[in-house]
Amino acid sequence: ARGLVVVVDGPSGSGKSTLCRRTAAALGAGYLDTGAYYRAVCWAALEDGVDLAAAAAASSTPGGRDHGSDEAVASLARGLDLRVGTDPERPYVIVRGTDVTAAIRESRISAAVSAVATNLEVRAELIARQRAAIAVQAAERGVVAEGRDLTTVVAPDAAVRVLVVVDEQRRLARRALELHGTSDEAAVERTRDEVVRRDRDDSTVASFTEAADGVAVLDNSGTLEEGVEALLALAAAAL
Ligand code: C5P
Repeated sequence: ARGLVVVVDGPSGSGKSTLCRRTAAALGAGYLDTGAYYRAVCWAALEDGVDLAAAAAASSTPGGRDHGSDEAVASLARGLDLRVGTDPERPYVIVRGTDVTAAIRESRISAAVSAVATNLEVRAELIARQRAAIAVQAAERGVVAEGRDLTTVVAPDAAVRVLVVVDEQRRLARRALELHGTSDEAAVERTRDEVVRRDRDDSTVASFTEAADGVAVLDNSGTLEEGVEALLALAAAAL
C-alpha cells in the first residue's frame, strides 16, 4: 500500500482505534494514533507538576486561559523526547525513555488531556510531528492514521478521508468497558459524564461530528469485521 494515506477522525469510544489498527494490518500499512501524542504531552506535563487543572478551568471560561501554564506546556511539547510506534500489531508510546503505552490510557490522563489539546501552540507542534510521521510511513508502506482533525487539518489532501460515527449507546458502552472493565448500566452512567465533557472540550478545537467536504462517513455500529470491510473498501477505491 506504498503511497496510500488513509485518515480517520471520530469521537472517543467510536471504536476507531481497533478499526484502524486492523485495517492497517490487513493493508500491510503503518498505523498512527495521533491521540497518543496529546496523551503523551499530558503525561509529561503531569509528571513535571504543571498545573493542568488551572489551564483547563481557565480555558472553559470564555476568553480565559492560564497563559503561564499554557506557555509551559507548549515549550514542554516542543522539546519533548517522544516516540510513537507505527506497527499496527504492537503500538507503543515512549516518553523520555519511559514506556508509557499503558499509563497514557489511565483516566487521570483522559480527564486532563483536553487542557493540553486545546492549547494551540501544542497543536501546532504535534501536528508538525504527526505530518512528518505520516509522510515517512506513507513512503515506506502506506499508513492508516486516526484522530480528531486529520481529515480537516493534519492531512486534508489524503487520498482516503473518513469520519467514523457510531450509535451513542454503543459508544458509551465501549468506553465503559475500556474504563471500568464492564459495560453494565452503572458503569455506562459513570462513563457518560466523562465522554460528554471530553467531546465538548475537544469540539472547541476540531470538528469531528460532521463530515467535511469529500469526507466519507463510516457507521461503526456493527461488528468489527463489518467496519474493517467498509474501511478496506474505501481504501481499495483509492489504490
Ligand atoms: O483518541 P484519544 O481519545 O486517545 O485522544 C485523546 C485526546 O487527544 C482527545 O480527547 C483530544 O483532546 C486529543 N486529540 C486531538 N486531536 C487529535 C487526536 C486527539 O485533539 N487528532
